[in-house]
Amino acid sequence: MKVAVLPGDGIGQEVTREAVRVIEALSLGIELTEAAVGGAAWKATGHPLPPETLALCEASDGILFGAVGDPDCDALDRHLRPEQAILGLRKALTLFANLRPAKVFKGLENHSALRPEVSSAIDLLIVRELNGDVYFGEKGFRTAANGDREGYDVMSYNESEVRRIAHVAFRAAQGRRGKLCSVDKANVLETSQLWRDVVIEVARDYPDVSLDHMYVDNAAMQLVRNPGQFDVVVTGNLFGDILSDQASMCVGSIGMLASASLGERQTAYGTYGLYEPIHGSAPDIAGKGFANPMATILSAAMLLRHSLGQAEAADRIEAAVALALEDGALGRDLGGTAGTTEIGDAVVARL
Ligand code: NAD
Ligand code: IPM
Ligand code: MN
Repeated sequence: MKVAVLPGDGIGQEVTREAVRVIEALSLGIELTEAAVGGAAWKATGHPLPPETLALCEASDGILFGAVGDPDCDALDRHLRPEQAILGLRKALTLFANLRPAKVFKGLENHSALRPEVSSAIDLLIVRELNGDVYFGEKGFRTAANGDREGYDVMSYNESEVRRIAHVAFRAAQGRRGKLCSVDKANVLETSQLWRDVVIEVARDYPDVSLDHMYVDNAAMQLVRNPGQFDVVVTGNLFGDILSDQASMCVGSIGMLASASLGERQTAYGTYGLYEPIHGSAPDIAGKGFANPMATILSAAMLLRHSLGQAEAADRIEAAVALALEDGALGRDLGGTAGTTEIGDAVVARL
């Protein structure tokens, strides 16, 4: 089992270190190989996603990713910015299905931004499309007729892109509570009208799943009003990005939400994928030693489950995380005092 480890920038380095310790503590004989991405790679090689890093990822069974983003790079041409590393990996490896589960761990009900009776019901999965939308359309700057500077980004989805993510979402719902909510903005956007039409067509293959549709503005509201109503949510790249950060605070912290980015490629052990916390490089707290590594540790569990066929080891990590939290291994983001390595220690000790 070969895993590429790409810590990236800022707290990406700190949280990945703890997830690697957790994987190593399981002694499964996984070969972990580290490579540079993001601002760190740009500083070392002049490119945020060096060809050797991409080659390592292609030759691996899965990728553990920290985070990219560096304020020093915010003025670079867009193609050289750290964020291009993660966007480039998702696109180059056709990782189009981003699974972002959000669940309240026992004992965390009181740490949510919502009242405990509201937060305790959260057990949802956001299925975010990752290869299309306004992220990958034509973009640029131009001069408007009146001489104004203008920026533009084209939003589009074609039906094959919508169909393949819809299938992933319906299958996920079949394996859960059988409820799918498709989130769009079909009252305004043609991209969303096409999205909705195609999701309805795909639904014919899944009579056992109940499907409804919600506009994204309402979905943002419902996510804080009554998040327990959601089982699986399927949505486009941009809406999924925003709603998943919001869902993280309903759970308690962005430091808790893991993700898997999957495509169609199979490995010898499962489905090839990239695993990362949903948060970024957090320059405001980088180097201070109190970033919460739980999201990355839980991403490592998803890696073991989906790409390496190690469901039992994944269960063990998730159980160890739950126990550590119950025992008070809470970072500052959750109102506790535990530092990054202390939280890693707490999980390793409970494995
Ligand atoms: P961010 O997720 O990095 O941070 C948002 C806030 O949450 C900050 O206050 C941060 O301190 C806090 N936070 C994030 N993760 C935390 C953790 N594990 N423990 C405790 N607190 C945590 O988002 P941002 O500040 O908007 O972006 C910073 C940089 O990260 C930008 O360059 C952005 O492009 C990049 N980014 C990268 C990814 C990725 O690599 N997939 C994801 C999101 C943002
Ligand atoms: C995420 C991030 C990325 C995204 C950025 C860093 C490109 O916010 O993984 O959620 O927008 O997809
Ligand atoms: Mn995001």
